[in-house]
Amino acid sequence: MTRLDVVSVPSLLHPSDLQDATAVVIDVLRATSTMATALAHGAGGIIPVATPEQAFAVHSEFPEQRLIGGERLGKPLPGFHLGNSPCEYIREVVQDKQIVLTTTNGTQALLASESADQVWIASFLNRRACCEVLQEREQIVLVCSGKEGRFCLEDTICAGALVDHLQNNGPLECTDAAEAAYALYRHWAGNLPGLLHQCEHGRYLASIGLTEDLSYCAQLDILSVNGLLQGGIVGRIETDSTGL
Ligand code: MLT
Repeated sequence: MTRLDVVSVPSLLHPSDLQDATAVVIDVLRATSTMATALAHGAGGIIPVATPEQAFAVHSEFPEQRLIGGERLGKPLPGFHLGNSPCEYIREVVQDKQIVLTTTNGTQALLASESADQVWIASFLNRRACCEVLQEREQIVLVCSGKEGRFCLEDTICAGALVDHLQNNGPLECTDAAEAAYALYRHWAGNLPGLLHQCEHGRYLASIGLTEDLSYCAQLDILSVNGLLQGGIVGRIETDSTGL
């Protein structure tokens, strides 16, 4: 039976949680939504880094093949090619490019999860595709990125959306945190756009003119793409589900 846990913020992760486990990192607004979109549009991979300084350094290694993206306080950074709005990561811009990405929470959560046996990315956009690659995994930890070290509703509800779909794969041994995420998802499942417009970070993004991101990131199962962190790069892993 698959054991399924949810961690609401990365600081609650214990090294033992990740040992021999499959981690799935979630940052609905917006890092993993952006990563899934970039990979779906042909990006050659995502390189998560902790700081803007590291981003410039990694970019300088292969400046022709790499773009720098990300945000602080939700806004693009000086000298970066891209911000962290998924809608920027169109095929014409990202195809065959590696994206060096640094964000406030999502890339930090990825780096905090590196010791897991496998590290996948999930969002509402690729929820079903992600569940497909988790089918044979025995111990799964859904790692919510949170917001500046605090609980954020949208990531936990996205974790609940994965719990909901993973039940189709067979019996689950859910922790209390996974059950709680599932209950929260059931409350909001019929109104994910409303969730993203009402949650704290969604309200903040709307206040800086990024309302379009909320509607886009609320779409469930529209991308049949997965990202797996290997050797410091989140690479595209195909799935056979229908979708974009
Ligand atoms: C994050 O990583 O915390 C988010 O992506 C921040 C944002 O893009 O607004």
